[in-house]
Amino acid sequence: MKLLKKQLKPFVNKLSRIIDERDIITDQNTIGPHLIDWVGNFHGNSPLMITPRNKEQISQIAKLCSNENIAIVPQGGNTGSVAAGIPNGEIILSLKKMNKIIEINPNDYTITVQSGCILSQIQEAAKNASRFFPLSIGSEGSCTIGGNISTNAGGISVLKYGNMRDLVLGIEVVLADGRILNSLKRLRKDNTGYAIKHIFMGAEGTLGIITAASLRLFPKIENKVTGFASLKDLDSAIKLLEILKEFSGDLLTSYELIPAIGLHIATEYGDNITEPLKNREQWNVIIEFSDTKNNNNAHDILQESLQHSITQGIVLDAVIANSISQTNNIWKIRKAIVEHQPKLGGEIKHDVSVPISSVPEFIQTTIEKLREYIPNIRPVPYGHIGDGNIHFNVCPPIDYPEQLFKDKTSDIREIVYSNVNSLGGSFAAEHGVGIIKKKQMLKYKDKVELEIMKDIKALLDPKNIINPGKIL
Ligand code: LAC
Ligand code: ZN
Repeated sequence: MKLLKKQLKPFVNKLSRIIDERDIITDQNTIGPHLIDWVGNFHGNSPLMITPRNKEQISQIAKLCSNENIAIVPQGGNTGSVAAGIPNGEIILSLKKMNKIIEINPNDYTITVQSGCILSQIQEAAKNASRFFPLSIGSEGSCTIGGNISTNAGGISVLKYGNMRDLVLGIEVVLADGRILNSLKRLRKDNTGYAIKHIFMGAEGTLGIITAASLRLFPKIENKVTGFASLKDLDSAIKLLEILKEFSGDLLTSYELIPAIGLHIATEYGDNITEPLKNREQWNVIIEFSDTKNNNNAHDILQESLQHSITQGIVLDAVIANSISQTNNIWKIRKAIVEHQPKLGGEIKHDVSVPISSVPEFIQTTIEKLREYIPNIRPVPYGHIGDGNIHFNVCPPIDYPEQLFKDKTSDIREIVYSNVNSLGGSFAAEHGVGIIKKKQMLKYKDKVELEIMKDIKALLDPKNIINPGKIL
């Protein structure tokens, strides 16, 4: 399965009949950055990385690997956080040279791209055609669309546009035996049996190698309005969400929870960030409206909704950004939490979801249980509350010994995940399973679903050569 040292030379010889020698990399310095992902809690190894340039080459590579029983790990921008794209002795197949926009059809509101395209490259291409591609995540300058599809990426616009799965119309995949599944249709309606394309989305590269996709586009956004509001309590976050939806129709694009400790992290460690409101309150939200019309409509509706919520006692204070720098300042708070949180003496990350209305209960009871376990522990629950998806990260008390905190990781995870489970939630809302959450997969995933997943894997990859050891 893994490529052994003595197999390397003869295997490279065979590969060089399929791809250019420039695209065969054995230099460990070049391979190094591909052995550790964004979070860096799993260090892999690999003797070889290949960077094919088209699907025909990938098909031949898959056939070769299948015949020789050599496993492949497909890799995009390597910005994941559960080590789904990290090899454990397998060869890396990087899609980064498959980065062409194949075609854009503004009248159909579609774009067809190779899977190694960087997300921001697709956003830009859509914009240049007076269209909008809505997937928006922190790593958009370096993640690839193939990785976005393979992980069913979410981000800050899911509330309005859905996850990646909702943005894919068609897909092209090289299977383990080298067959090319061509389902690149640009159709909104196609009821011809099983939706096979969907099993590759969120499969984290375990069922095949995605080589291209047709994606949905939307009307170009002409006006964005960003607000920041402090809330009376957590329940008010759900009440305010309802008001924003009711008042604005579909203008609401982002709704992100920011706890007081997040403001502390941002102002303490972030780059020149100012606190948006005079008083720091426990619970706050970032609100973004986006509109295809460039007028005052979005601003006025946001103002009206906030005023109404203040009158109702739901919102304590609020501000609407009136310049680009104020808007950037608000979003910099959100980014700074992600970036600087480890500076609180370490962090244990959880990416979880519960039904939207259960978020307040989930956060409150989890905090209580964590505090029973370690008094003064510092939970940092933040993020996509509008989707019921909270990044429930946990930092130690001030001056708590780092190793002692690390040793408590599995207890802390158990507290968070069992609470998620009891509220009907998911232990992997957005970032996937990869290697890091396999244990939870066995514990919490429906048994029948797991069986079917294993059957599908065995059907499509009987020799287990595509991203073995991930998810299942
Ligand atoms: C975010 C990443 C961590 O929401 O998912 O910033
Ligand atoms: Zn997120």
